[in-house]
Amino acid sequence: MDLLNKMSIACDIFLFLLTALIDIFHSFFKSLIPRKYRCKKIDNEIVLITGGAGGLGRLLSIKLAALGAHVVIWDINESDIKKVVDEIKSLNGKCTGYVCDITDKQEIYKTASIIKKEIGNVTIIINNAGFAYGKAFVDTNDDEIEKIFKINIISHFLINKTFLPEMMKNNHGHIVTISSAAGLGGAYRLTGYSATKFAANGYHNALFADLKIDGYDGIQTTLVCPYFFHTVGLFPIVKPRFPDALDPNYLADEIVFGILTNKKTIVLPGYLKFVFPLIENLPTKSYVKFLKKICYADELSESFAKYQKSMLKNDKKN
Ligand SMILES: *[C@@H]1O[C@H](CO)[C@@H](O)[C@H](O)[C@H]1NC(C)=O
Ligand SMILES: *[C@@H]1O[C@H](CO)[C@@H](O)[C@H](O)[C@H]1NC(C)=O
Ligand SMILES: *[C@@H]1O[C@H](CO)[C@@H](O)[C@H](O)[C@H]1NC(C)=O
Repeated sequence: MDLLNKMSIACDIFLFLLTALIDIFHSFFKSLIPRKYRCKKIDNEIVLITGGAGGLGRLLSIKLAALGAHVVIWDINESDIKKVVDEIKSLNGKCTGYVCDITDKQEIYKTASIIKKEIGNVTIIINNAGFAYGKAFVDTNDDEIEKIFKINIISHFLINKTFLPEMMKNNHGHIVTISSAAGLGGAYRLTGYSATKFAANGYHNALFADLKIDGYDGIQTTLVCPYFFHTVGLFPIVKPRFPDALDPNYLADEIVFGILTNKKTIVLPGYLKFVFPLIENLPTKSYVKFLKKICYADELSESFAKYQKSMLKNDKKN
């Protein structure tokens, strides 16, 4: 019996390898077709973007509205929301904005039910809103820890629960998680951020398994793990030495293409996919040297900490 069992497993693995080979060939030949010919249409879709009024979220809102989607923005900054909605409307795009604090569960549920009544079923969710503080682990305070978990990961669960049932009924939808390279490797002075981004990656991949194994082949998932990007977002002035910071417009274009071609995972720059496992398996000493001598991790965190201090000062002035 035991032998039979082992043989059956060996047989299944052999068959799996054979079909995997076919799948690899298939996706290789598909990748030879330029991606602009592989894009799906999104002009009938309703896209929800959290944090859609600023930074990367704003760029995604504008680009997705230009493709004809009805963009629904959730943000906490009313004046920023108004600016983006006006900008998109002036370009003849469809856009509606709502003030929604996603750290508040009741506000998520309330705003979601308003959207279902006023606009319809959301078919693409982009969990984009994020929060970060750059501090040594021992200096982080309880409120910051709770806030970062609420925004960066718990909100994904709450938003999933409000919109996924309709997607499942219609077997149609797309869930996009904007994570970070900090979700692939522990980032210096960003314990809270890294922890929530690892959580987001885990959530996203498990959700993928739930959906695909249960047969929802019409609901797509895309995980995005970018490195730092310049000028907008949470780390606008951080200038890393290596790898170089990404251009936000390029990043937004890559994400849009990823959504349109149902790409499962986007890591940018792409070679980080291989760098993380590599340095993870280096001897401990070399790992630390890599972060200090090549990435200049300490300078990076210093510039971010300075930026946050200046933001806090501005907040107090306002
Ligand atoms: C909204 O964002 C603008 C900058 O775009 C800022 O000046 C303003 O203080 C923000 N308002 C709130 C309530 O955070
Ligand atoms: C939303 O999806 C549900 C479930 O399929 C459907 O009954 C309902 O009519 C849809 N609402 C709209 C506005 O299309
Ligand atoms: C997402 O929502 C669906 C429908 O309510 C639920 O079945 C599923 O377990 C949820 N998944 C997660 C990871 O929260």
